[in-house]
Amino acid sequence: MARALPGPYRGSPVTEDRTTPPTALHDLTGSTRPVVAVQGLGFVGAAMSIAVASAMDADGNPAFEVVGVDLDDTAGGARVAALNESRFPFETTDPELTSALQAARARGNLRCVTDPSAYARADVIVVDVPLDIDWRSATPELRLKGFEAAIATVGRHARPGTLVLVETTVPPGTTEKIVVPTLDKELSQRGIDPSSVLVAHSYERVMPGAEYFRSIVSYWRVYAGHTPESADAAEAFLSQVIDTETYPLTRLANTTSSETAKVLENTFRATTIALMEEWSRFAEHVGVDLYEVVDAIRMRPTHANMRTPGFGVGGYCLTKDPLFASVAAAELWNLPIEFPFSTAAVRANDEAPLAALDRVRTLVGGSLDGQRLLLLGVSYRQDVGDTRYSPSETFVRAAESAGAVVTAHDPLVSHWDELERDTPAQLPDPSGFDAVVFAVPHDEYRRIDLAAWLGTARPAVLDAFNVLSAAQRQLLVELGCPIASIGRGIVGGGLVGSDITST
Ligand SMILES: NC(=O)c1ccc[n+]([C@@H]2O[C@H](COP(=O)([O-])OP(=O)(O)OC[C@H]3O[C@@H](n4cnc5c(N)ncnc54)[C@H](O)[C@@H]3O)[C@@H](O)[C@H]2O)c1
Repeated sequence: MARALPGPYRGSPVTEDRTTPPTALHDLTGSTRPVVAVQGLGFVGAAMSIAVASAMDADGNPAFEVVGVDLDDTAGGARVAALNESRFPFETTDPELTSALQAARARGNLRCVTDPSAYARADVIVVDVPLDIDWRSATPELRLKGFEAAIATVGRHARPGTLVLVETTVPPGTTEKIVVPTLDKELSQRGIDPSSVLVAHSYERVMPGAEYFRSIVSYWRVYAGHTPESADAAEAFLSQVIDTETYPLTRLANTTSSETAKVLENTFRATTIALMEEWSRFAEHVGVDLYEVVDAIRMRPTHANMRTPGFGVGGYCLTKDPLFASVAAAELWNLPIEFPFSTAAVRANDEAPLAALDRVRTLVGGSLDGQRLLLLGVSYRQDVGDTRYSPSETFVRAAESAGAVVTAHDPLVSHWDELERDTPAQLPDPSGFDAVVFAVPHDEYRRIDLAAWLGTARPAVLDAFNVLSAAQRQLLVELGCPIASIGRGIVGGGLVGSDITST
């Protein structure tokens, strides 16, 4: 059945006979709307599927039929099942995202499958699969296999006229040197002219958290096409999903530029966070509150986005992305160019939780052996349930190797996959602990009534991520809890106290 497709990403009309596969894909047969397949239903793809399904045309009707596709394995199947049951597959504090999912499911223009033949139905295929690097190794190398396999799968199913929009964060040069050749090979083997499939790159800036949904549809985007026609197609598609009137798109000259923008953007952020690490150690020793100092400097508009001290950097992006430039230079471009700042930033951020552990050691009297620690915050970021490469993991592993007994709590994490342990649902009673570490500024921790929670308990407290207010820190001083803060040599309301003596 032929079907007219609006927009400049229109491909050849669908003329092949479409048999109905035994999945929810049969809903797509006869669809009059363009079909968008989203490959990979992780933190990015699951949210992007909902964002695309929420896009409306000028008449207020859904602009797209969306099919989310993940692998036919345990994790992929669970994500597909969750979305089909109108449940977001990850803990989220964003009600807009969950209500948009429920609305899309109720409308019927979003379904998820593990069947890759979905790509054969698609006018646009959005690639949201990971591309990994062993970033903790001394000489990091790309782990391309999974990414290449995902692109090859697209090539085995895509039809002429489809736009393949790569959103994965990749080393600069990947679209040109890996995606396009992989697609070309698969398409040629099927007798399809490779140039009939359009390829573009537009990186995600999605921020899982309270503004998860908005961070896709109400945020600026950068994109580029492998050809001018591909760039036009990407622009047409993104303009329907994103509020581009308020948040205009930026077109770059080629896909390597778009890939470079993502990697540099995240490298800039990771490097400026790492810079605060060495200044934090200094501030803690000399009686300076670095937060106060940074606020003073931020008054200068040129320095308004200066970073503040913290517990370290985790998650799937800032940990690895700064290393993508050096591996791109070596593995894709054969260039003898090194990136020492970027590499140093990754290492400094990775080791930051160990500085926090040192401060706890001092607070509890010099040895962690047998000390009972309560760690508040397990995810890598506030109001997010993602524990990948969380600084808390580094902290716990090091603390337990030093003989400490750690209980970890997180309002958004019930099972900590990386450490294979459950976390208590309720904030634990503090009376059984020698020290409490506020590691992640989740809302629940910021709002904590310390006097009520502590009761008669007087554990040492480390505020590792500016979780507590000056009044809360002052209260701890008055209650008699030994207290220290990362990035602060001053505690409470201007008191120069145990921070200095404890360092
Ligand atoms: N997590 C973030 O906040 C964030 C933000 C911006 C950009 N990114 C980038 O987006 C990309 C995806 O990140 P993520 O956090 O969503 O990863 P993720 O690991 O949460 O999800 C990836 C999903 O892709 C699936 N997948 C892998 N191979 C597949 C295949 N061949 N076919 C179908 N599905 C496949 C996996 O099963 C998984 O469900 C990465 O490049 C990441 O760097 C992530």
